[in-house]
Amino acid sequence: MTSTQDVDVVLEAVGLTKHFPVRRALRQLFSKQRSAVHAVDDVHLTLRRGHVVALVGESGSGKSTVARLLAQLYPRTGGDIRLHGASTTVHGGRQFRRYASRVQMIFQDPFASLNPVHTIRYHLTRALRVHGNNGDLEPALHDLLNRVSLTPPERYLDKFPHELSGGQRQRVAIARALGARPEALLADEPVSMLDVSIRLGVLNLLRDLKERLNLAILYITHDIASARYFADQTLVMYAGRMVEGGDSETVTQTPAHPYTRLLIDSAPDPDRLTGDVDPLDEDRGNGEPPSLINPPSGCRFHPRCPTAMPRCSTDLPVRLEIGDAPGHWAACWLYDREAVS
Ligand SMILES: Nc1ncnc2c1ncn2[C@@H]1O[C@H](COP(=O)(O)OP(=O)(O)OP(=O)(O)O)[C@@H](O)[C@H]1O
Ligand SMILES: [Mg+2]
Repeated sequence: MTSTQDVDVVLEAVGLTKHFPVRRALRQLFSKQRSAVHAVDDVHLTLRRGHVVALVGESGSGKSTVARLLAQLYPRTGGDIRLHGASTTVHGGRQFRRYASRVQMIFQDPFASLNPVHTIRYHLTRALRVHGNNGDLEPALHDLLNRVSLTPPERYLDKFPHELSGGQRQRVAIARALGARPEALLADEPVSMLDVSIRLGVLNLLRDLKERLNLAILYITHDIASARYFADQTLVMYAGRMVEGGDSETVTQTPAHPYTRLLIDSAPDPDRLTGDVDPLDEDRGNGEPPSLINPPSGCRFHPRCPTAMPRCSTDLPVRLEIGDAPGHWAACWLYDREAVS
């Protein structure tokens, strides 16, 4: 069955690529060479109704760029974005608003995303009106705040963002996104600026919304442990490329790609008492992500990889099935069964 026939599929990235041109120094002006930041290369992902996909990776790996491309906040260099199977390119204005009423973004910093001079009522009213939800205003406002558990709603409606806590502000940002009645939410590190104690509450809220509203959610995070808790599927990104994917339980419990292992081993885990080896000591690249202007050839992780083989520095790894669970794959030559070793 092709993805276009799968009715649950809301949004797909197919070979999505984004290169940011780098401003050239004077001496390069007359040369033909154009350099670019290879922020995202050949990314495939599928968001389905009622499912959360986590996109995990370290800083600079291209996670936010994927989300912004999917939100059509800037043009892609290559590949495709499909909404219900149809290739979609949005050029501002009304087209953008129509797209945004189906695909909404939630940002890391709820304070920056809310205007400090406007009340909660203003933000939510605007979201409802812009996206053409022109029913009775007052019940709709109450409904939005109830949905994000800011109750009773009248206690919050006339407050300003600075009068709320970080967690409450993020709930308002989520309510505003829901005002568009979207099918997909792109949540870019939605809890990483919140106190640890309230993160779980906001993730539980998102999970609850996923179930009740049958939303497709992309959850971007540094924290692979939260992906296991919250996401149905986990994709791992390194230096602009996807390196591993599968259901969250499998990817986090039996990671296949050496980068995913490094990510898991270096995350603080209260369940793990002592580690014999510090995984970061085994990192041959001193924990430095590579330059994305001249990304490493072959596998982009090879300069840091403890198990790198000669072909890793020359051949771009393809997605290979791991075989321990359906749908678990890694882009790593370690799993190339056809290779003679
Ligand atoms: N507008 C831009 N112009 C030029 N380069 C950019 C632009 N936006 C992002 N980049 C570069 O693209 C790469 C990926 O950035 P991105 O913000 O997507 O990473 P990220 O995984 O979201 O990181 P973080 O975890 O820190 O948020 C980085 O090298 C970044 O410097
Ligand atoms: Mg980011």
